Amino acid sequence: MEQKQRINIAIDGPAGAGKSTLAKLIAERLNILHLDTGAMYRAMALKALRSGIEPGDASRVLPLLPKTEITVKNIGGIQHTYLDGEDVSNLIRTPEASKGASDIGVIPEVRMKLAESQRKFAEEYDVIMDGREIGSFVLPDAPYKFYVTASADERARRRLLELQQKGIGLDKTLESMREEILARDHTDSTRAFAPLVQVQDAILIDTTELSVEEAVEAVLRHIKR
Ligand code: DC
Repeated sequence: MEQKQRINIAIDGPAGAGKSTLAKLIAERLNILHLDTGAMYRAMALKALRSGIEPGDASRVLPLLPKTEITVKNIGGIQHTYLDGEDVSNLIRTPEASKGASDIGVIPEVRMKLAESQRKFAEEYDVIMDGREIGSFVLPDAPYKFYVTASADERARRRLLELQQKGIGLDKTLESMREEILARDHTDSTRAFAPLVQVQDAILIDTTELSVEEAVEAVLRHIKR
């Protein structure tokens, strides 16, 4: 039997560029699913932190892997992320989980485990997936690839606003947020295994000066074409 060709859209880029917001809206417009892969790294980091393990400590993280189950479910268009059956969707949005996710993402075995379930997801569903290495490593054959970015100042401003709206990290300043984001960019783009890169066949969307709607339109224009 001939297999149906899936719609797979890859969105990569640095923290705070607006990938998840964009991907969620595009998923709604195209009536496909959105998979926020960062949430899976965050859940893995939470598991390490709860076990008293530094997320970057590979020798202590590796034994956790076979004992960890990370799953996602789409409920009413919103992704819920589960760690060993517990809904941790809100708990993974703290600055500790952000840094932890970046640190744990350096470990190749973590990435292989999560990429495997992300690929299964893409085989099963039409999906727009956002992350750091979706177009280069998870779904290198995706027919649509975008690299979404924005200036560091703008990304810091957005992340700070997002945190404040959730009542988290209220002591943070714009400058400290900017430093945090730049440190994460550095970890994500210099790791040896599957780093953050703009692949050659990805379309660059710079959202610094764009409204959310303009950014959505910029992506959709390429998909319709
Ligand atoms: O997209 P986010 O801010 O939720 O991602 C948090 C961290 O997780 C990010 O700084 C690096 C890591 N990550 C990754 O290594 N690969 C992905 N596909 C998604 C996230």
